[in-house]
Amino acid sequence: MSSNKNLDLEAVLEILEERVLQHTGRYLSPSEMVLIKGSWDGKDYKEIANDSGYNVHYLQTGVGTPLWTMLTEVVGEGVQVKKLTLRNILLRLAKKEYLKKLEASYQNVDRLIGTTRLYGDFPKIVSFYGRQNEISILKREVNIFKKRCIALIGIAGIGKSILVSKLIEEILLENSNNYEYLIWKKINRSSTIDNLITELIETFNIEQAEDITLQRKLCLLLNYLQLHRCLLVLDGFEAIAPVNVFEKRLEYEDFFVGITQEKHQSCVIVTSQVPLKEIAYVNVNSSIVSIQIEGLEEDAAIQLMREKGIAGEKCKELIETYRGNPSELEAVSDRINRIFGGSIEKFFDYRTTVIGPRVEAMLNLQFGQNGLLTDLQKQVMVYLAEEMAKSSAFIPFSKLINDLKERLKLEVMSISKVISALEALEQRSLIEASRQSSKHELSYGMEPVVKKYILVDPYGLVYKSSNNKELTSYVQGQNSP
Ligand SMILES: Nc1ncnc2c1ncn2[C@@H]1O[C@H](COP(=O)(O)OP(=O)(O)OP(=O)(O)O)[C@@H](O)[C@H]1O
Ligand SMILES: [Mg+2]
Repeated sequence: MSSNKNLDLEAVLEILEERVLQHTGRYLSPSEMVLIKGSWDGKDYKEIANDSGYNVHYLQTGVGTPLWTMLTEVVGEGVQVKKLTLRNILLRLAKKEYLKKLEASYQNVDRLIGTTRLYGDFPKIVSFYGRQNEISILKREVNIFKKRCIALIGIAGIGKSILVSKLIEEILLENSNNYEYLIWKKINRSSTIDNLITELIETFNIEQAEDITLQRKLCLLLNYLQLHRCLLVLDGFEAIAPVNVFEKRLEYEDFFVGITQEKHQSCVIVTSQVPLKEIAYVNVNSSIVSIQIEGLEEDAAIQLMREKGIAGEKCKELIETYRGNPSELEAVSDRINRIFGGSIEKFFDYRTTVIGPRVEAMLNLQFGQNGLLTDLQKQVMVYLAEEMAKSSAFIPFSKLINDLKERLKLEVMSISKVISALEALEQRSLIEASRQSSKHELSYGMEPVVKKYILVDPYGLVYKSSNNKELTSYVQGQNSP
C-alpha cells in the first residue's frame, strides 16, 4: 500500500525502541538495529550481512532468533514476529500509536505529531466508508501537484469535513514531519475575513503592531505561509458568504489571490456548500482546485446503513432517493429505527421523505431572509419542485424557459440570466441536470428531499412574497450591467 511505503522508518523505530525499553529495560543493540532496518527494506540475511559487515550466521542465529522471540512478546499481539512479518507488524504498531496521538489531539488545543503542531477541533471520525477515489485525488493534489488552495464543494452533510479529516489522518500517517503546522478552523456565521486573518496571526504567534490594516495583516500571514509549511483547513466557508456585498467579495478575493499566487509551501483546504467563486471574486484561471463532493458510492452507503442496523434489498432504493448523502441516510435510518422498529419495508409503506437536520439547516440558510438565493433562483426551484410533484420526470430546458416566461408573465426573458441561475443552483447541488444523450437538450430536476422542503415550506421561507417587480425587470434584462 503506497501510504505505508512512505511511513518514516525512523519514526517507527522510535516507537519500537520505546516499547522494547519499557518491556525489557534495555535499548536495541546496533546489530539488532541493522537486522530490523534490513528486514524493513525487504533484504535477505546475506544482503544485510554484506551491507553491514556482520557475519551471516551470527546475524541469523546469534541476533535474529532471540530478537524475533523478544519482539513477538513485546509487539506481536499474538502474531509471531519474523523477518517476513516484521514490516507489517511495525506498521500496525505505528498506526496505533499515531491514532492514539491523533485521538488525543481531538481534545487538546495544541498537540504535536512528528514535527507537526496541531491546532483546532478536528471532526472526530467515528466510522468512515468508501471515498478511496476522492482521497487519492486529494492526496495527489496536495502531495504531488503541491496545490496551494483546494476547495471541496458539496451539499450539507455530504461528508466534506469528515473527508478532509480522513485525508489529514492519512497525510500525517504517511509523513508526520511534512508540515510544521496543521490548523483546523471552523468558520461560523459571526466570522469575518478580518477576524479570520487576525485569529490565524494569533495562532501562529506572529508579532504585529496594533491597529494595522487588513491588507497589512494579510501580508504578514502570507509571509508566514511562505516561511513555514502549513496545512490550513477552513471548514464551512459558506458561513461567511456575503450576500451581494461588493466590498466584502473584494476582501475575499485578496485573500484567495494571496494564498494562491504567492510562492509558498503551504496548502489551504476549504470546505463549502457554496462554490468559492460565489463568495469571492475568484478568477477562473486562479489555481484554486475545486472538487465537487457527491454522495457515497453504493457499497459504502450500504455499510453505513448496516452499521445503523438497516439492511435488505430496499436499502438501494433509499440510497438512490437520498443520493448517497451520509447524513441524510443516517437521519432516515434513525427514523426507521425509532418509528418502524427497524423495518425498512414498513417505512416504505408510508412513502414519506425525511428531511435530515443538515439539509434543512442549509435550505433555511438559502431561502431565508438575506439568504443566498436570488429571486430568480428561488422561482426556478419552486417551479421545478411543483412540476416534479405532478410527475417525477425531469423538465427539459425549453419547457422550463417557456413555463417560466408564462409564470412570470413576461414577453421577453433573458435566457443567459436563467442559464446562470441554473448553473449556480446546480453547482450548489440544489438542482440536478441530466441529458438523455449528447444530442438531447439538458433536463432539470431536484432530489426528493429538496423538493419536499420546497413543497412543505416548513418555515414559510420559500413562498414568502418576493419583490416581483424587481425580479421581472431583472429577468427581462432591463437592469443588466
Ligand atoms: N465516508 C463516510 N463514512 C461514514 N460516515 C460518513 C462519511 N462521510 C460522512 N459521514 C457521516 O455524515 C455526517 C456528515 O458529514 P460531514 O460533517 O463531513 O458533512 P459536511 O459535508 O461537512 O456537511 P456540512 O456542509 O453541513 O458541514 C458525519 O458526521 C458522519 O456521521
Ligand atoms: Mg462540514
